Amino acid sequence: MSRIAPIVLAGAMLVTQTGCGDKRPPVSPSPPTAPSGTPGILAEPLRDAARASGKLLGAAVQSGFLADGRYTGVLGRHFNYLTAEYEMKWDAIERSRGSNDFSRGDAIVAFGQANGMQIKGHALVWHGSVPGWVGALSAADLRAAFEAHIQSVGEHFRGRVVAWDVVNEAVADDGSGLRDTVFRQKLGDQYIADAFRLARQADPQALLFYNDYGGEGLNQKSDRIYSLVQGLRAQGVPIDGVGLQMHITATNPPSDANIAANVRRLAALGLSVNISEMDVRIRDVPGTPPMRLDVQRSVYHSIVGVCVAEPRCDAVTFWGFTDAHSWIDAQFGADDPLIFDAQYAVKPAYFGVLDALSRR
Ligand code: XIL
Repeated sequence: MSRIAPIVLAGAMLVTQTGCGDKRPPVSPSPPTAPSGTPGILAEPLRDAARASGKLLGAAVQSGFLADGRYTGVLGRHFNYLTAEYEMKWDAIERSRGSNDFSRGDAIVAFGQANGMQIKGHALVWHGSVPGWVGALSAADLRAAFEAHIQSVGEHFRGRVVAWDVVNEAVADDGSGLRDTVFRQKLGDQYIADAFRLARQADPQALLFYNDYGGEGLNQKSDRIYSLVQGLRAQGVPIDGVGLQMHITATNPPSDANIAANVRRLAALGLSVNISEMDVRIRDVPGTPPMRLDVQRSVYHSIVGVCVAEPRCDAVTFWGFTDAHSWIDAQFGADDPLIFDAQYAVKPAYFGVLDALSRR
């Protein structure tokens, strides 16, 4: 039984392996049906529908916007689960060796606690946020820095976060094996199991997740993630769950059936599953802007619906919540990937999420 949220069993049977990989038939845009434009601060709170569905509904947060009333107003009204978008990563905390700056992570935790939200730490070990000084370390010195980092950060947030993304993006994109990172090069493949054991020592209560992208449905990468976590469980390594990042496009999202099949096989290992960083890019969707937004609504609706229907899927987190602040623009080009627009008004996608949480 997961320790994050009560579970409501839906019991709907979903799955057969289609054998044609991970793609759903192309979505034909339909005329826009859901109203939008209502200020988010006035819209029906998504967190109430999430609570009723037994799931957590989260958003990635940037501490720099916590002084913005529009940002905090919508965030506090609609979400009950927070992830720091950057502030708890290694290079954000330990810019120079031995001096940890927890101030921005603490600000996010304080906001969450003041608004009755749970917090997930992100991410203790990720090749994408290694401080500059780490690269020059010898293997022995990296081992010491690695252990000190997990211990000090885990202990600092102990009792204030309910879960950690312990290891992030350690599997190669083609699913051929583990990603070649500084951790693997200097600490060996064992670094993954070591990270989980160190995290458990630092915070005995937090749920410990492996987190990755591109393995949401059924494909070579999700097979490799599956065998990685299966192996960790078999070794008795303290891992509690898997995060499926879900940075997807509306033109080619993984199919519901394959996501559900992936969630179920992970659950069969005794693991919880989170959709941990969802956003849905629409810039390449053919048709008019309202048609693009309606396709986006249906993608949010069906994928959040998969999590609502799967007993071991505990939470859905969006990587941000307003199009005013999304990493997608810098990473993939200007887009509107989230459920509130840049003026913090609801988009059709908001209704897709609300309907899915309400099992409509
Ligand atoms: C991204 C943040 O959104 C950006 O602001 C930052 O510049 C880079 O990191 N996978 C993850 C997240 O696990 O931590 C990344 O977040 C996005 C991809």
